[in-house]
Amino acid sequence: MHFENKTIYEIYIKSFQDSNGDGIGDIPGITSRLDYLRDLGVDYIWITPFFMSPLKDNGYDISDYYTVNPMFGTLSDLDRLIAEADRRGIGIILDMVFNHTSTQHPWFQKALQGDPEYMEYYYFRDTPTNWHSKFGNSAWEYVPQRNKYYLHLFDKTQADLNWSNKKVRDELKKVLLYWKNRGVKGFRFDVVNLISKPTSFRDDEQGDGRHFYTDGENVHAYLRELVTDTGIEEYLTIGEMSSSDLTNCIGYSRKQNRELSMVFHFHHLKVDYKDMNKWELMKPDMERLKQLLIQWQTGMQEGGGWDALFWCNHDQPRAVSRFGNDRQYWKESAKMLATALYLMRGTPCIYQGEELGQPNAGFTDIRQYRDVESVNYYDILQKEGKSRDEVLTILSERSRDNGRTPLCWDASQYNGFSTVKPWIMSNSHIPEATVTAEESDPDSILNYYKRLLKLRKESSALSKGSITFPYPRCRDVLAYERTWGPEKKQILCNMTENTVTFRLPKPMGTILLHNRPDIHIQDEILTLGPFEAIVYEEET
Ligand code: GLC
Ligand code: CA
Repeated sequence: MHFENKTIYEIYIKSFQDSNGDGIGDIPGITSRLDYLRDLGVDYIWITPFFMSPLKDNGYDISDYYTVNPMFGTLSDLDRLIAEADRRGIGIILDMVFNHTSTQHPWFQKALQGDPEYMEYYYFRDTPTNWHSKFGNSAWEYVPQRNKYYLHLFDKTQADLNWSNKKVRDELKKVLLYWKNRGVKGFRFDVVNLISKPTSFRDDEQGDGRHFYTDGENVHAYLRELVTDTGIEEYLTIGEMSSSDLTNCIGYSRKQNRELSMVFHFHHLKVDYKDMNKWELMKPDMERLKQLLIQWQTGMQEGGGWDALFWCNHDQPRAVSRFGNDRQYWKESAKMLATALYLMRGTPCIYQGEELGQPNAGFTDIRQYRDVESVNYYDILQKEGKSRDEVLTILSERSRDNGRTPLCWDASQYNGFSTVKPWIMSNSHIPEATVTAEESDPDSILNYYKRLLKLRKESSALSKGSITFPYPRCRDVLAYERTWGPEKKQILCNMTENTVTFRLPKPMGTILLHNRPDIHIQDEILTLGPFEAIVYEEET
């Protein structure tokens, strides 16, 4: 494993930095902010798709894999970004959306014309199944020209590619080789555990169809072929795994398997879904969250798999608003969450704005939303009988747009993101969550992230050591230990807003990181305040 002491930073390109005053983030904008990322301690940046696309799903609907969308810049802008990043020791990771293409892609357009070769690139069938699209409604769309239905697990403008067709796999390898040769250092593969579909399509008696195509029969073979044929075994490769399981995630990321270097999985981000339904609100079950982290960390370690550790991304609401308390304990809870996860076994992946504690978008009106999923569910949930106000409350907590508002660089009108009104506005209730304010505050969330990432990088135990959970049953407190040879580090996090006590097995030695001003110990009993987090070495 060679990414243990690295840090990845995700950039949602549309919302990071606008350089030409059109209200949309772009590639030169990223280049202009590389020093900020280097100072934060970032080794790789993953940039969400900037290829040609009708942008129905903000670039996850690609119509040409080889061309930079002029809205985001030019190929030479990208070359410059790659070179400038490289000068700062930062590698660029591109987002490869290979499960589907836009229906605007020439392959799909030729299929629509009835070209039999290209119809085999997708799934065209005479009759649909009862499967659901992940963005709501049916997963099949009827095309009168062909009198057939095509499969789309996401929006109807995102047609699923037929990976059982070798020509499709070879085309996608060419795409990888093209970008590899331009000097990128890694790839993130979008919903890549959904690429292997069954040979025949049947109705799902028990659900929405997902068990027919999640971690499908040939997925491991397809990934190994993609990676070995393009020679990217040593590159940083992350697979986004939708509703996967531990066994498969180990399989995808074990070095010996020559598939990917790490995985994103999502179980810990469903602990506030009532009955596992994203659109039913519930307070997060922090005890369950803790148990899931323990179970996955232990399991991945035993099986030799590797995680990309993350709380936030462009599809998730902000963790500080969700699992922390973005009002009374804003700073404490943002810092605790970072401590709880990013010192675990895996490679941290920080999402833009998280390092500032940016909260949810604060939207109250459907016109503020841009996301296709949110807009679809605004109607669907009302049709299902919810009132408009209820739906708006649900969206304010669950919409993907919560994480997509512009990065707040400073306190100027458009937060230093742009000189004009951005494509999506932020309605944050925390005006001090900006880069300039936090850079000058030693106690800021930003400065805490810097200290944490540095600590991780400099410690073998925290980056590549083994992990154990000495007190898995201890309520409210997440406690873990990382060990490398004689080096040991202890992590204690109060995951709640209650004051709790913890009996220290051994006296504390050096404190390495702490999110509160003082430590309270009496007679070996440590009192942890709301969201308190401590990293220390035991006295020897
Ligand atoms: C992934 C992306 C998400 C996109 C979906 C379909 O989950 O992260 O933004 O909508 O795949 O491509
Ligand atoms: Ca722009």
